[in-house]
Amino acid sequence: MRELPFYHAFAGKVPAIATELAEKLVALAPPGLARVIFANSGSEANDTAIKLVWYYNNALGRPHKKKIIGRLKGFHGLTIGAASLTGLPHNHADFDLPIPGILHVSCPHHYRFAHDGETEEDFATRLAAELEETIQREGPDTVAAFVAEPVMGAGGVIVPPKTYFEKIGKVCEAHDIYMISDEVICGFGRLGRNFGCEVLGFRPHGLSVAKALSSAYLPIAGVMIPEVMYQALLEESRKLGGFHHGFTYSGHPVAAAVAVKTLEIYARDKVFAGAAARIPQFQQHMKKLGEHPLVGEARGLGLMGGLELVADKKTRRAFDPKQTVAARCVRFAEDEGLIVRAVIGDTVTACPPLIIKADEVDELFARLSRALDRTLDWAKREKLLAS
Ligand SMILES: Cc1ncc(COP(=O)(O)O)c(C=O)c1O
Repeated sequence: MRELPFYHAFAGKVPAIATELAEKLVALAPPGLARVIFANSGSEANDTAIKLVWYYNNALGRPHKKKIIGRLKGFHGLTIGAASLTGLPHNHADFDLPIPGILHVSCPHHYRFAHDGETEEDFATRLAAELEETIQREGPDTVAAFVAEPVMGAGGVIVPPKTYFEKIGKVCEAHDIYMISDEVICGFGRLGRNFGCEVLGFRPHGLSVAKALSSAYLPIAGVMIPEVMYQALLEESRKLGGFHHGFTYSGHPVAAAVAVKTLEIYARDKVFAGAAARIPQFQQHMKKLGEHPLVGEARGLGLMGGLELVADKKTRRAFDPKQTVAARCVRFAEDEGLIVRAVIGDTVTACPPLIIKADEVDELFARLSRALDRTLDWAKREKLLAS
């Protein structure tokens, strides 16, 4: 703050610390992600990503290739573009969203949406076929991008079925569709590697990052793009006499300095490796809670877990949303001194700090287990369970 509390980046002056941060991000990201444009939140990053895809296709002389595909239950933020891409109906209702040109394909949740007896691989094949059909129906020349979180977060910690991204990636490649990995939750060690897409085995063209970029100490986000896109944007901007996008606080020097320090600490303290070492223990505990009478499915990847609570374990019957069973469990957890979150579909989610220690993982699950037991007692008293 003493060096440079603020200067905007609109007129060709970029704070040196923002450049340093961009270089650090490029070094951390999968190969091919060569340039960074900053924003102040995950939502702004995704809105920026959408605008860049549109601008890029205009630059390439493809003015009709503009539609963007997201997924039901995906969450990408709540500004107009990002909220449109989000596939949760309650984020659309009465906000006049989604905007035209944004489409959603099915949610890759095997437990809820696979057919009887369908393997994960077959389910993934069916979802890739649905994407292909959607693109064909819309016209491949009109579809520009596909955006996905590696593991869906706010939609309920939904881990895609085996081979999903491999198959989706092939469809996108066949139609020259730009793939964006929304790494706002999964980025920076959450799934055991630098970025979630690396764990899920897909090679996106672009990335959105936020949250753990600064460990949330200050607001900062970014969009990472390949060199070929950058060059096209540059060329188009020369024609137009400037690149007319940005926010006053994009690449704010103080937020950038905090992010640079955060990345340094991640490296210095080997935070991602430390988190990766805790994953097997965390997921074993998750799996164990899957045996609890209230839990229909215990799922997760990396240091992300979700427990879907059901009224009938055998038939997978969900509770009536009005009974707010997961919210009740969250309150019992709070009584136990544990913060977890309830998301739609009565799923209780846990996303601990990357620096969590082994004994703290045990403690987390001991408390969560007690909260589940108390929820079960309550649900029995309220006669909410299948007899
Ligand atoms: C995957 C994902 N993308 C984007 C966002 C939006 O980020 P923000 O709330 O910083 O706008 C979120 C927020 O939770 C998110 O989980």
